[in-house]
Amino acid sequence: MTPKPSRVLGYGDRVLVYIDDKRRFLVELREGGVLGTDKGFVRHRDIVGRRYGDRVPLSRGGYAYLLEPLPVDAVYSYRRVTQVIYPKDYSFMVILSGIGPGSRVAEAGVGSGVVTTILAWIVGGEGRVYGYDIRGDHLEAARANLERMGLLDRVVLEKRDIREGVPVEGLDAFFLDMPDPWRALDTVWVALRPSRPVLIYVPTVNQVEKTVVALREHGGFMDIHSYEILLREYIVEKGATRPASTMIGHTGYIVFARKILSEPVAADNI
Ligand SMILES: C[S@@+](CC[C@H](N)C(=O)[O-])C[C@H]1O[C@@H](n2cnc3c(N)ncnc32)[C@H](O)[C@@H]1O
Repeated sequence: MTPKPSRVLGYGDRVLVYIDDKRRFLVELREGGVLGTDKGFVRHRDIVGRRYGDRVPLSRGGYAYLLEPLPVDAVYSYRRVTQVIYPKDYSFMVILSGIGPGSRVAEAGVGSGVVTTILAWIVGGEGRVYGYDIRGDHLEAARANLERMGLLDRVVLEKRDIREGVPVEGLDAFFLDMPDPWRALDTVWVALRPSRPVLIYVPTVNQVEKTVVALREHGGFMDIHSYEILLREYIVEKGATRPASTMIGHTGYIVFARKILSEPVAADNI
């Protein structure tokens, strides 16, 4: 995704131009390019030849820092066409999923492509992410976002209602972020490798209940758990370190389950 830290930056490289917490811009360096901000502008040609970790002067004074983009930067710099899953939630989902370099995973819906980006980064160049969405315009937005992070090569995007099935099998994990995941359980069950997990994200407790009841009644899943992640940031000042006075009170809930073979299945059919 990114060059080694010792290499100098050139046209085509991606840089997170960081001024402060509210001003962070994911930029692909191109000839003639200019990044304009309310704190001043930076010409791409003034970034070329520097290294990650360097700083560059802004036209109106002060500096911008040149950082190597991390996948987490996607959340804050992507064009969003849908609600997205935030790091506090997707990080737990990814750890629970057990995926790593070389894994094959599916995701629906793709939405703005934030989770797709994280999955693509985790599975690496040898892995595959199969991303499905019922809306072509959402897929196009996600495609453009993934391209900006340089991760499109390991992602297969397809317009599809996943309640009607997906054309892949033997997956290491399936991620769902859609309004009615309980209607996609047959699809998930067929596509997963036996014993591998599904990770479901839903914004309301009503959806958690419907999902868990459906998972139990399906018969093809076990080890079913529901979670909510609360994250509190701290303001650190000498003698006055404390939690930030505002925190995000609600995003969504996570449901985890593993595929089991509810009926004996011949090894050839798994
Ligand atoms: C909240 S967005 C997903 C956001 C994504 N997780 C992210 O972080 O960028 C939900 C997406 O699910 C898609 N969707 C809804 N029902 C679907 C279905 N049956 N099959 C495939 N996609 C579906 C919607 O079009 C929408 O783009």
